[in-house]
Amino acid sequence: MSTMNIIYISIEGNTRSFLKRLQDFAKQQHLIDTKSPLISLKEIGPQDAPAKESKPFFAFVPTYLTGGNGITSGYTEIITNALGEYIEDGDNAKYCVGVVGSGNRNFNEQYCLTARKYAKIFDAPFLDNYELRGTSADVERIYGVLAKEWAKVEENN
Ligand SMILES: Cc1cc2nc3c(=O)[nH]c(=O)nc-3n(C[C@H](O)[C@H](O)[C@H](O)COP(=O)(O)O)c2cc1C
Repeated sequence: MSTMNIIYISIEGNTRSFLKRLQDFAKQQHLIDTKSPLISLKEIGPQDAPAKESKPFFAFVPTYLTGGNGITSGYTEIITNALGEYIEDGDNAKYCVGVVGSGNRNFNEQYCLTARKYAKIFDAPFLDNYELRGTSADVERIYGVLAKEWAKVEENN
């Protein structure tokens, strides 16, 4: 039986809420078919120091950028940096097998920019995205995307 590992940060609770629902959905799927992977969650607090990872994981990151009209103002990541530093630390980045972003489409071109940036710097695929707390359709779709990606990771290990 396999369990997918997810590391995330959540400032206002949207990402946490989404991931709890994703984890519940995984439990249901696992009851129907034991080959469907369960989910293990690890939340990184904004002040947490990095720890060493030794197993593959997906990273979930919301977007917090300075300014924020999406057109002329800043692109500097704020508040969520602890997750980036966590992944960057030691060999952790090599265990990051995918990034999922969240944000608010009102931010236009800055929508999910942090996740897209992480995918690039940590050389991991940008797997999917959702807005705010996400919908049930997002939960279902993203579970499918992760499970498919996880199967590939397991094949290679
Ligand atoms: C100060 C601030 C800046 C934000 N900047 C962006 C942004 O640049 N792009 C975006 O897509 N969403 C942006 N958002 C929306 C958040 O990413 C969104 O609300 C997310 O669901 C928060 O996740 P959390 O509750 O897990 O912290 C911003 C929200 C706040 C409060």
